[in-house]
Amino acid sequence: MAGADGDEKLRREFNEWAEEGKGEEMERHHASIVEPTIAMMNLKPGERVLDLGCGAGWATRLLARQVAGGEHGQAIGLDISDEMIARARVSSKGVENAMYVWGSAQEIPWQEEYFDKVLSVESFYYYPDQSKVLEEVLRVLAPGGAAYILINLYTDNPYSLRWVDELKVQVHARSEAEYVEMMRQHGFEQVEARRVPDESPTPETYSGRWFKNAEELREFKRMGALLLVGRKKR
Ligand SMILES: C[S@@+](CC[C@H](N)C(=O)[O-])C[C@H]1O[C@@H](n2cnc3c(N)ncnc32)[C@H](O)[C@@H]1O
Repeated sequence: MAGADGDEKLRREFNEWAEEGKGEEMERHHASIVEPTIAMMNLKPGERVLDLGCGAGWATRLLARQVAGGEHGQAIGLDISDEMIARARVSSKGVENAMYVWGSAQEIPWQEEYFDKVLSVESFYYYPDQSKVLEEVLRVLAPGGAAYILINLYTDNPYSLRWVDELKVQVHARSEAEYVEMMRQHGFEQVEARRVPDESPTPETYSGRWFKNAEELREFKRMGALLLVGRKKR
């Protein structure tokens, strides 16, 4: 595996998350930014889509539903945590066009030019070698295919940096402009950065530890997640 040490650390950390039930919990935290993102992906029956860093697989199942119907429509979830993958497989029994694979985003265990679209939710900033991952995403994308990288940790949203010191693994904190440049340098075309605000209701009062008050939380959600979109040359 590329960057094997980093990947092994990530595997252990996210196996713990999986055992604590955090894989399934993430649906509650991320659904409000993932649903509008999937709508922007304009998926069609018969397409093949990869969910990179799929966790417990709830978003992979949403993708599978969108591409079902055509002859090849298939959603593949890939994750470094074997525990997440095991749970995703159990929860997706009966979803015939969803499949889960254990492996690293830095060395995607899949053939080249296979996927029409790639989605990655709240995972890209964990990858030790983000350049290698972008190369791998381009390799597995079919000509004209598109990648959608959604992250809620980037420097233009200062609230999002409050979690960095709490995480037990290293993360990258970069700006929208840096990410756009990185994707262009790796050969993605029509690179765009969009913001996906979290429009879920915010309670009137906030008693957690991350925000001073509900107004700050509302501001964090209004700023939204960063969605990076890039295409592979036809
Ligand atoms: C915050 S969770 C998000 C999971 C899922 N996308 C969701 O929204 O519920 C980050 C996920 O990225 C996965 N991950 C981290 N580093 C990875 C790597 N190098 N290759 C593949 N997956 C990785 C973790 O195991 C974890 O499941």
